[in-house]
Amino acid sequence: MIETLDINIVKAEATRLSVTDFSQLPFGKVFTDHMFTADYEDGEWKNLQILPYGPIPMSPAISALHYGQAIFEGLKAYRQPDGKISVFRADKNFERFNKSAARMSMPSIPEEIFMQGLAALINIDEKWVPSQENYALYIRPVMFATDPYLGVKASDMYKFALLTTPTGPYYSSALKVKIETEYTRADEGGVGFAKTAGNYARSLYPFEQAKKEGFDQLIWTDSINHEYIEEAGTANLIFVINGKLITPSIRSTVLDGVTRDTIIKLAKDAGVEVEERRVSVKEVIEGIENGSLTEAFAAGTAATVTQIGEIGYLGNTYKLTDSSTRTISNGIAKKLNDIRYGLASDEFGWNWIL
Ligand code: COI
Repeated sequence: MIETLDINIVKAEATRLSVTDFSQLPFGKVFTDHMFTADYEDGEWKNLQILPYGPIPMSPAISALHYGQAIFEGLKAYRQPDGKISVFRADKNFERFNKSAARMSMPSIPEEIFMQGLAALINIDEKWVPSQENYALYIRPVMFATDPYLGVKASDMYKFALLTTPTGPYYSSALKVKIETEYTRADEGGVGFAKTAGNYARSLYPFEQAKKEGFDQLIWTDSINHEYIEEAGTANLIFVINGKLITPSIRSTVLDGVTRDTIIKLAKDAGVEVEERRVSVKEVIEGIENGSLTEAFAAGTAATVTQIGEIGYLGNTYKLTDSSTRTISNGIAKKLNDIRYGLASDEFGWNWIL
């Protein structure tokens, strides 16, 4: 039996709910009243707390700041028709968090701390879970190294926190994406599969350059020849070519996305053929040109299912089909949303109703 943990709760003096405009919720900017925190010291997790959301005091020497020992996750809680709250596939995010931790030489977080911390936090901030269509409570687990020490070594101390932020989809319309052929997001044997801060840091400069050229997002390619498509950095990538759902296979350079996995399962269940394999840039560009590539989208917790409208490659722009005509991805996206929001039966057992 899983032990019920003792979580110390310090309630916020006042709620910010009444001054929060739920019609204006840019991704990741508005936080709920509380956060959950725990500390790893002397080889164990301790100080489980729910605290008013706010600054965490820290030494400027903590190793996370200097050497990047920091990992995170992203999952969402959805308001159900009966008013209850459901967290989607929390077990997958928990598993991936600990995979990232192992790769970054960080301690794993016990399941009961992750899950009970999450349940306690959502329970106390229950009113913050939006009920508008396509909105959800985004949950951000994070762990970072807190040894105040400038030597290069795995830290002995860590902070784990759960932050929650009500939000709509990360992207608001079909994306114009650029296939990146100069910079890379991840390399074989590196940390691309881990959800660690440095993967995002190294993507920022190429992303800023692409934004100046009018793109919304990058499509990362392999670091050897820029020949194969990997992922989008904020989401995985999925294509429909000749009626089959095709997505780059998971490898050491690609994040094993929970939304990607969910879409694959839903597609197979709906009788759509799925291929997880290497996808070449050539195949995608030729597919657009000859009409065999009919759909392309990004899939992620924050991004949900975001259609790709245009792809830029080596200075040329390739316009894709009108996204409203994309029956496979729109059909799967609807089914996915219906399950998350409790409008369709949860055949796969993905919803954790709190
Ligand atoms: C998520 O989808 O949860 C992510 O972590 C992507 C984020 C970097 C926007």
